[in-house]
Amino acid sequence: MFDLTGRIALVTGAGQHVGRAIAEALAAQGAAVAVNDVVAERAREVADAIVKAGGRALAAPGDVTDLAAMTALVAEVDAGLGPVDVLVSNAGNSGATRAIPTPFAEMDPRDWKKYVDINFYAVLNGIHAVLPGMRARRHGRIITIASDAGRQGLAMGMSIYSGGKAAAMGFQRSLACEVGPDQITVNTVSLGMIPGDWDLGPPKGVPLGRHGVPKDVGPAVVYFASDEACWVTGQILSVNGGVYRNV
Ligand SMILES: NC(=O)c1ccc[n+]([C@@H]2O[C@H](COP(=O)([O-])OP(=O)(O)OC[C@H]3O[C@@H](n4cnc5c(N)ncnc54)[C@H](O)[C@@H]3O)[C@@H](O)[C@H]2O)c1
Repeated sequence: MFDLTGRIALVTGAGQHVGRAIAEALAAQGAAVAVNDVVAERAREVADAIVKAGGRALAAPGDVTDLAAMTALVAEVDAGLGPVDVLVSNAGNSGATRAIPTPFAEMDPRDWKKYVDINFYAVLNGIHAVLPGMRARRHGRIITIASDAGRQGLAMGMSIYSGGKAAAMGFQRSLACEVGPDQITVNTVSLGMIPGDWDLGPPKGVPLGRHGVPKDVGPAVVYFASDEACWVTGQILSVNGGVYRNV
């Protein structure tokens, strides 16, 4: 079950943390993985690690907020690995590592764009770049990594981030209807807290009693990427230890 042999996946922002774990999980199920990151060295390191572990991977550095760069990148992946079957738009930025979170009222309006670009426009760019090929082949898996901050809201300093993630989720609900007839599915994995190099303190209010780790995310993405998930589209799955519970 969930055998991805022969599938080509492109994972954005896969140079570290959650994106890296997603790339490695897809590769472990047999997919060939294009590892994107704006930091080229990170992309190369992860692609090398996948190849060393016996998988198939290609470093695909580039800035996903740039539509032209993203379109060129998808063409490079096509030439290097094959046409993209699975797009995972993981690159994102919450600003969570800022030492002092900035409330919306005090944010410089010029900083709004940065968070909307990476959390929303980057998703549009990736999808726009892969859709023509997926449509022609009448197969595709579009998966976006969002945040429960966009579903239930979050603490001070996260309002623009939450808005960007919520926009991506709303967009995908409608896109699922548009591209369903082409047998392309569109789903979202919405995350709870998965600390990186910042301290979140004890996991208060997490029913499962701990913060997440990157490896918690891969299996949900593998499922949405699989042939077995062929009748599942327009859905949002929270992977969050139970903090936000769907109605
Ligand atoms: N970690 C969490 O607690 C958490 C919670 C909810 C949602 N998320 C979401 O999960 C995703 C991954 O989060 P993470 O914690 O692993 O982030 P991270 O900051 O650790 O890693 C993000 C990666 O994306 C790359 N990146 C940034 N801008 C890019 C660009 N323009 N083009 C290409 N690559 C770019 C970075 O270089 C980095 O390697 C994000 O979308 C984030 O919003 C994370």
